[in-house]
Amino acid sequence: MTEHENTIRWDKDADGVVVLTMDDPSQSANTMNAAYVASMGKAVERVLAEKDDLTGVIITSAKKTFFAGGDLKDMYAAGPDRAQDLYDQVTEIKRQLRALETLGKPVVAAINGAALGGGLEIALAAHHRIIADVPGAQVGLPEVTLGLLPGGGGVTRVTRMLGIVDAVMKVLGQGQKYRPAQAKELGLVDSVVGSVEELLPAAKAWIAANPEAVAPWDVKGYKIPGGTPSNPAFAANLPAFPANLRKQLKGANYPAPRAILSAAVEGAQVDIDTALDIETRYLVSLITGQVSKNMIKAFFFDMQAINSGASRPQGHDKHVATKVGILGAGMMGAAIAFVCAKGGMEVVLKDVSLENAERGKGYSAALVEKAVTRGKMTQEAGEALLAQIKPSAEPSDFTGVDLVIEAVFESVELKHKVFQEIEPFLAEGAVLGSNTSSLPITGLAEGVKRPEDFIGLHFFSPVDKMPLLEIIAGEKTSDATLAKAFDIAQQIKKTPIVVNDSRGFFTSRVIGTFLNEAQAMVAEGVSAASVEQAGLQAGYPAAPLQLSDELHFETMSRIQKATKKGLVEDGKGDTYFEHPAYAVLDRMLEEFGRKGKAAGAGFYDYEDGKRTGLWPGLAEHFGSGTKEIPFEDIKERMLFAEAIETVKCFDEGVLRSVEDANIGSILGIGFPAWTGGVVQYVEGYPGGVAGFVARARELADRYGPQFTPPASLVARAEAQAA
Ligand code: NAI
Repeated sequence: MTEHENTIRWDKDADGVVVLTMDDPSQSANTMNAAYVASMGKAVERVLAEKDDLTGVIITSAKKTFFAGGDLKDMYAAGPDRAQDLYDQVTEIKRQLRALETLGKPVVAAINGAALGGGLEIALAAHHRIIADVPGAQVGLPEVTLGLLPGGGGVTRVTRMLGIVDAVMKVLGQGQKYRPAQAKELGLVDSVVGSVEELLPAAKAWIAANPEAVAPWDVKGYKIPGGTPSNPAFAANLPAFPANLRKQLKGANYPAPRAILSAAVEGAQVDIDTALDIETRYLVSLITGQVSKNMIKAFFFDMQAINSGASRPQGHDKHVATKVGILGAGMMGAAIAFVCAKGGMEVVLKDVSLENAERGKGYSAALVEKAVTRGKMTQEAGEALLAQIKPSAEPSDFTGVDLVIEAVFESVELKHKVFQEIEPFLAEGAVLGSNTSSLPITGLAEGVKRPEDFIGLHFFSPVDKMPLLEIIAGEKTSDATLAKAFDIAQQIKKTPIVVNDSRGFFTSRVIGTFLNEAQAMVAEGVSAASVEQAGLQAGYPAAPLQLSDELHFETMSRIQKATKKGLVEDGKGDTYFEHPAYAVLDRMLEEFGRKGKAAGAGFYDYEDGKRTGLWPGLAEHFGSGTKEIPFEDIKERMLFAEAIETVKCFDEGVLRSVEDANIGSILGIGFPAWTGGVVQYVEGYPGGVAGFVARARELADRYGPQFTPPASLVARAEAQAA
């Protein structure tokens, strides 16, 4: 008995159970758009009107996902002028859900797929949640990862269900997604069934057994688990919450976690309707603020563009790699072997000796053991995975290999040599990839017979954790090879960005400017501790001098010199800028013999590999701490250096898309997530591009020509102003 053609179908069975099936005909997933609000409004009105003839209500979905959540396009576009409108809309959504929650008849959510964000919030308003354990089924409130909070009742209800601490620290503050069994253990859902078909019968059975269901918090005397601020012991700990949060965020600019904490604590002290209203007000302020716009742009729109293959050449069949040969079983090669085996490939891991290669395989064995111990992999799956990796010292083991990933020492001659050794054995059309972090791909491709098959596959360490793969097209790389590389990245579950060849490509080049700026500031007299603190407060995951120490100073210095030589050879010597940081590294190496963390001495001192503190020599020999510059300048020197280098990468045709720049900067080199990535940082800067240019000029006046805004940016600022 389907009665209205809107986004929610109404079906009532002979027992008086109404099934509300969400099925927005205008899109592939249900979202909280205007049609949903109108449809749910009508459905709720009818439920209330026919209440006496109903035994219960089931909410489910006809889509693959249960419900996709808020309408991000709409939120992204909403400026401060929309605040009242947003408030009214969210208030209406919550009024509807609250009406169901207080219906006096049982309401069950039958979750047939992913219920994230708004989807879980609808389910939380039901008295009972049943989820089908099918592929893709998961629940969670990931709003915080987009700079938002779950404002459809999520903060309020999860706080009441789990208590303030678990709600804020686990579900709301981390934005984690949970598979059915985990969700049940945590208490976010009540039961799990094996298939979608079992959902409605289970929901109906629960309704029959619980004719008078009410939400626990609507029962008089309900106490929030773990206590609330009205409890003196809890109140005594309360002042530590914001401090802990600040510590967790390292002082960085993330308004959403702070708003979540405030909404949870304030909401726990009042009745549920007031709590829901407090939550709405915090949500509206986040939606209309800049940080959520930045994060929605990067993590939703840009990621969607990348994953859908916007930068993959069209017209080439989907490619699957079956046998990979890895050259070099050192730190990178060993870890690449693991992710390739996980991606279903047969792996040959070759080094100069079998012993080295076996040591490389040991890395995978250690990761497998850890995964098995933690219950993330079965023993059999672990053994099968290891059986896929064959350590080798023989070029002939590359027979039939359709993908090569080279990860030997950073030397052109050596890389040419190792490719020549294995080339005769490869399968026809094999992709020839190099994991070089700095050598131009075009030059490396000169060492192989089929340069059109040669490509840069730049992984990030630790390979099994870092989600990015930077794919670099050399001058001769064919579109077919590029398309294959893109597919291979997805096969091994990495997010691919595609860039054109250049010394250091995009990521290494840009991160270098961040490290340079930090090192130069120390030599200008800025306190090294302030530089580190400013880096963290700007939102970088690692402080810049700490990160410098992780890299080898000798390698950094070698790359700098190679860059200079390369530019001069290419006739671009006039573009070379002798950054003041280079002299700092040279002195560290030559005068003080400090080579970085691995050598036990860098910008920090170390004992048994552990940092013991900043090296006092920085003050003594470089004058660190003798000069003060505004803290905001310290932060922005690092951010601007990276942003300006990115603009240059566009100007030189190294970067091909804004999406790749934004995502590559966040996932690859730790550009702060709140910015939405390095391009969005420029666009979203107060005053837009013109504001960024004005500030860049100010920094150039104060600190040097590395901040001079590129002409292309100045032109854009002028166009924006016109
Ligand atoms: P590594 O020094 O740990 O490993 C190099 C391995 O190559 C050693 O096991 C060595 O025995 C082996 N090797 C040398 N000559 C060989 C030959 N003729 N045949 C087979 N194997 C040979 O170096 P790492 O850190 O793994 O770097 C390898 C490559 O990856 C370099 O090009 C580096 O620039 C690049 N890279 C490194 C990153 C890092 O974070 N370490 C990040 C991204 C790229």
